[in-house]
Amino acid sequence: MAKVYVFDHPLIQHKITYIRDKNTGTKEFRELVDEVATLMMFEITRDMQLQEVEVETPVARAKSKILAGKKLGIVPILRAGIGMVDGILNLLPAAKVGHIGLYRDPETLKPVEYYVKLPSDVEERDFILVDPMLATGGSAAAAIDSLKKRGAKNIKFMCLIAAPEGVEVLQKAHPDVDIYIAGLDEKLNDHGYIVPGLGDAGDRLFGTK
Ligand code: URA
Repeated sequence: MAKVYVFDHPLIQHKITYIRDKNTGTKEFRELVDEVATLMMFEITRDMQLQEVEVETPVARAKSKILAGKKLGIVPILRAGIGMVDGILNLLPAAKVGHIGLYRDPETLKPVEYYVKLPSDVEERDFILVDPMLATGGSAAAAIDSLKKRGAKNIKFMCLIAAPEGVEVLQKAHPDVDIYIAGLDEKLNDHGYIVPGLGDAGDRLFGTK
């Protein structure tokens, strides 16, 4: 079963509070999402592989460690996922960035892919799929289907706020994909919004409404 990590780091929790606040304007909202994405990424990369190297310090020769260079791909789900990309690239500036766009079919209510562009070497990369909100879990599950269909084997899912309903759907659909969350909320309302949540993440990031 997929593991669920809820980050309780004080800096993450502090910033999430201001992200939730309806009085936080677009500029500050964007900056906070950026910062939280960086802080979450710091935790998520804890299991990255290292290799030993030798380094000459001004004092002596020493054995030390660097990243083993496993290729990484970041994939935001359009459109709100884009708001988390720069924060991640602050820590991993060489990561490749793919994009997945989905819309909900008005008749079947199922997510339909309208745009997928991934790095060409999908099979060799570890992927981090990002979307600020894990609501029903439908888009995240479909985006992971889409990644797996193209050969991705090792995927993590990272979001700011999740509803328990979405976590359950994603865990059932993809038991191999661990889920990283900054705030696990109470429920979804009848309109598919997370309660208490933060409203529409895309609108708040891009200043649309
Ligand atoms: N998407 C959002 O942006 N907000 C929600 O609360 C749910 C889905």
